[in-house]
Amino acid sequence: MKKLKVGVVGAGSLSEAHLEAYKNNPDVELAAICDLVEERAAEKAKKYSISDVYTDYQEMLKDPELDAISVVTWNNTHKEISIAALDAGKHVLCEKPLCINYDEALEIKAATERNNKQFMIGYVRRHASSITVLKKYIDKGLLGDIYYAKASNLRRLGNPGGWFSDKSRSGGGPLIDIGVHILDLLWYLMGRPKVKTVSANTYNKLGNRTNIQNLSFYKAADYSPDNNVEDLANALIRFENGASLMVDVSFTLHAKQDQSSAVIFGDKGGAEIDPSLVIVHEENNTILNSTPQIDHPWFHFSDSFQNEINHFVNCCLTGKQPIGGIDDGVEMMKILTAIYESAGKKQEIVFE
Ligand SMILES: NC(=O)c1ccc[n+]([C@@H]2O[C@H](COP(=O)([O-])OP(=O)(O)OC[C@H]3O[C@@H](n4cnc5c(N)ncnc54)[C@H](O)[C@@H]3O)[C@@H](O)[C@H]2O)c1
Repeated sequence: MKKLKVGVVGAGSLSEAHLEAYKNNPDVELAAICDLVEERAAEKAKKYSISDVYTDYQEMLKDPELDAISVVTWNNTHKEISIAALDAGKHVLCEKPLCINYDEALEIKAATERNNKQFMIGYVRRHASSITVLKKYIDKGLLGDIYYAKASNLRRLGNPGGWFSDKSRSGGGPLIDIGVHILDLLWYLMGRPKVKTVSANTYNKLGNRTNIQNLSFYKAADYSPDNNVEDLANALIRFENGASLMVDVSFTLHAKQDQSSAVIFGDKGGAEIDPSLVIVHEENNTILNSTPQIDHPWFHFSDSFQNEINHFVNCCLTGKQPIGGIDDGVEMMKILTAIYESAGKKQEIVFE
């Protein structure tokens, strides 16, 4: 079988996860890399034996041999790069979030409709093996109708700075950066219901807290302390089918420690996803907490990325429908945009 020739746009921190997983896939030839910062792209090219290095993605897209690209750049560039790639006849794997607002999402959707190419969003949490296991139980009806989900991802000190905290490039703070992962995952497991109402709050109280000493935290490669994004967001989302989802996420908060939890509840059973998979159900009038015996009952970073890239490559080569296509991205951007709108207007957003 012909190998898939892949290019990666963006050679920053996360590109490593894409490059490593493509390298491990025997059906892939890593052919091109592009970054605004030439040395960054050249360094990855050397490490992964990639022949073609670009600083302009438009030049890269002119290569007729290139089949597919990964978009691993600042959020505000996802739209233009994805659309240009689709129009150039390439398959696209776009990192989360799909883009920075709902209107942009619709523009990308239009590009997918005029080009018969694969488009997949890098919702890596969907590809964790623990989620594949859980999804099978859900599809078999073990949890029944899922009517409530709740997620909390609270960093006490973790505003990465740089472009992450520059709203014009990121589209927002912890909600669009880390919230999108958990919102998408729970929404996917709930059966992707249509959003009905959103009521939300965002707070800009603590900034990036560069004053804190003796405690390290993740910083963007191009770290700068400037910050104009929220440091906390919470939301209550109601769906057309009556189900609801509650979420809160922070870059920084006066919390005792970082906290991460994600749970879903159905009328026959429930599941704890974060910190680790436990399935709760009822049998013989007894409540059972079942712990699937699997290698990675929690989100395992490299394993999940490998699964995601393998799935994308397989979809490109076989024409199979990807998990996490454009329609899922559009609905999620509708929810995220409504959360920011609700918080800004201090009122509930209702979709007719
Ligand atoms: N799936 C995950 O778990 C996960 C984790 C981290 C980041 N991400 C996403 O990955 C993307 C990149 O994040 P990162 O942490 O690698 O950021 P980063 O700042 O480390 O790297 C981004 C790179 O993109 C380059 N870039 C920006 N605009 C470009 C353009 N027009 N053409 C070429 N290069 C361009 C920058 O020069 C930079 O090197 C973001 O969308 C982020 O949300 C996803």
